[in-house]
Amino acid sequence: MLKYLALSSCALLAAVSAQLGDVFEWKELSFAWPDEDAKTAALKTRDYVPENNLPLGLGRWKDKLFVTVPRWKAGVAASLNYIPLNATDKSPALVPYPSWKANRIPGKGEAPADDQIVSVFRINVDVCDRLWVMETGLADILGNPNQVIPPSIAIFDLNTDKLLKRYNLGENDIKGDDSFFANIIVDVTKDACDKAFAYIPDLGGYGIVVYSLAEDKSWRVKHNYFHFDPLKGDMTVGGVNFQWTDGVFGIALGPLNENGYRTAYFHPLASCTEFSVSTQILRNESLATDPQSFELYKVEGGKGDVGQSSSSAFDEKTNVLFMTQLQRDAIACWNPRTKLQPDTFPLVTQDHEKLIFTNDISIDAERNLWVLSDRMPVFIYRELDPNQVNYRILRMTVDEAIKGTACEA
Ligand SMILES: *[C@@H]1O[C@H](CO)[C@@H](O)[C@H](O)[C@H]1NC(C)=O
Ligand SMILES: *[C@@H]1O[C@H](CO)[C@@H](O)[C@H](O)[C@H]1NC(C)=O
Repeated sequence: MLKYLALSSCALLAAVSAQLGDVFEWKELSFAWPDEDAKTAALKTRDYVPENNLPLGLGRWKDKLFVTVPRWKAGVAASLNYIPLNATDKSPALVPYPSWKANRIPGKGEAPADDQIVSVFRINVDVCDRLWVMETGLADILGNPNQVIPPSIAIFDLNTDKLLKRYNLGENDIKGDDSFFANIIVDVTKDACDKAFAYIPDLGGYGIVVYSLAEDKSWRVKHNYFHFDPLKGDMTVGGVNFQWTDGVFGIALGPLNENGYRTAYFHPLASCTEFSVSTQILRNESLATDPQSFELYKVEGGKGDVGQSSSSAFDEKTNVLFMTQLQRDAIACWNPRTKLQPDTFPLVTQDHEKLIFTNDISIDAERNLWVLSDRMPVFIYRELDPNQVNYRILRMTVDEAIKGTACEA
């Protein structure tokens, strides 16, 4: 009995402390300026205010690790960037993507560039070597908000770094001033790249916008499950207490089912429940917008009292869904072969220093799980200490992450 206990607590310990490898870390972000003069000038004009640059979203393609820096405050040098993965520096400078020029806010009366990037939260790298960018178009969100261009989807060809397509969300996709589009999830297979769909959660307007690339058309889906849980919006992360009302936020797609569609697992941020719906519903405009479809959505289960999550990511090979755990400074997993409840939702890693506000996670083509943590509530409501490490990017393999946990099948 004793031996058994010792063994099992060891196994538990090993599971929770499976170490994420620290790949990059910064006290403040730096950028790969064309030259020192450009940086000096930007600092002088306050087009670059180092402490206002917070990394938020990530995605990997080959030797590039994309990192977004939303324009929460004035002085963001560039919103869409990458780190060359051969970087030897632990705190590498971010390289604006597709260019410095595209990331510059146009002056008064100046037309935006075709490949204009204003402010981006999350991105998605698809299996067709494309980068999907949810462009909010809104600069200086917490200061003097400035809608520079309309919210749009921008798709880049990663092999040429050229803009393939820009689609402005329609009037019916946007719910007045409430809408906030901070994520984009792409549903596509390698043999049908031109038939891709994108799902864009509206965390402030409680909807999902579906975009069909083939039809070049979008529609807005409503459901009660896209709303926040009023009892789950009170959170404390990194010692900062705040109350949020963010609705549908994380969406992750399961493998192709026999019918050719996937299960979309989703959750509001201010909620500890996970839901799902077949992409067969979302992709079919008439079905998606028909109130009769209410019952086609499913409650998958609960994640426990402090199970609030921003991003999620699905590994098809092991059939495991990973989710950030904001209040637990952790990443958790769940295998949908089991019913979702706290004991089937173990932590794969937890660190009360390094994982303060696990803002985004992403699984790359080699099945590495990437995690970005950034102390965002401290950045928004207080002030980050520039003398400590504030932002981290960490990595572990999916197999390492779930080893010895209830997620292993
Ligand atoms: C990384 O790769 C790029 C492109 O291949 C090259 O230009 C650069 O010099 C490399 N950097 C390092 C640190 O090896
Ligand atoms: C959408 O769903 C309706 C109702 O089930 C069905 O009749 C129609 O064929 C579907 N459309 C497509 C394009 O699958």
